[in-house]
Amino acid sequence: MNKLKHIAFIMDGNGRWAKVRNKSRTYGHSQGIKNLLEIVQCCIEKEIEQVSFFAFSMENWKRGKEEVNFLLNLLLKNLNGKLLNKMEDLGIVGKWIGFENNLPRTLVTTLKKIESQSSKFEKKIQVNLFFNYSGTLEILEALKDAQLDKEKMKPVEEYLITHSLLPIDLLIRTSGEQRLSNFCLFNLAYSEIIFEPKYWPDYNRETLLDNIEQYYQRDRRFGKA
Ligand code: FPP
Repeated sequence: MNKLKHIAFIMDGNGRWAKVRNKSRTYGHSQGIKNLLEIVQCCIEKEIEQVSFFAFSMENWKRGKEEVNFLLNLLLKNLNGKLLNKMEDLGIVGKWIGFENNLPRTLVTTLKKIESQSSKFEKKIQVNLFFNYSGTLEILEALKDAQLDKEKMKPVEEYLITHSLLPIDLLIRTSGEQRLSNFCLFNLAYSEIIFEPKYWPDYNRETLLDNIEQYYQRDRRFGKA
């Protein structure tokens, strides 16, 4: 049995969740942020070492300005002292995975501050927030950096911004869509994948426990017979 150490989520379906309730897409996102803590707490109970959330891709800039600004502000609003206290209480070390391109300066500094302050907490879990991230750009940038650095001869993957993360054991994408959407391509090489039909705002502890059970029923062979 392969211990589940790292779970990643593609949190999809906020817009459709809102639409069936005759609400705006932004309302869907504000509901979508509410279950994050419950999910992280459940991961801590299950002794999962890392949990990753894909919250904003570089392709998401193509959405309407109002929605993009809402998502940027939603994140900024939640990155505050109260969050840091909660992270310290629960033993959450936070890591931001993404590119600075186009992000407001205040958001970048706040993300970095949370990352550096939480790195001193007594760690029970590492939470990776993928925000303004692109899997293909990450690989391109790694190749460029390796080329510049070629006398050092480090393996190319060491230049990836996701290099320090554990490989993803289980990827869960909500809302029934069945694609990777340019998420964390390198670390997904041997991941188990669950396409969960629920929309993200309906995803809860019970769904997670069920998904974890499904993971443990799988036979991971990593190429062996
Ligand atoms: C995908 O649903 C969701 C997103 C692009 C944003 C994810 C954001 C959250 C879950 C809220 C947490 C946010 C932060 C900033 C931490 P969709 O909009 O693609 O839904 P649809 O496919 O039904 O249109």
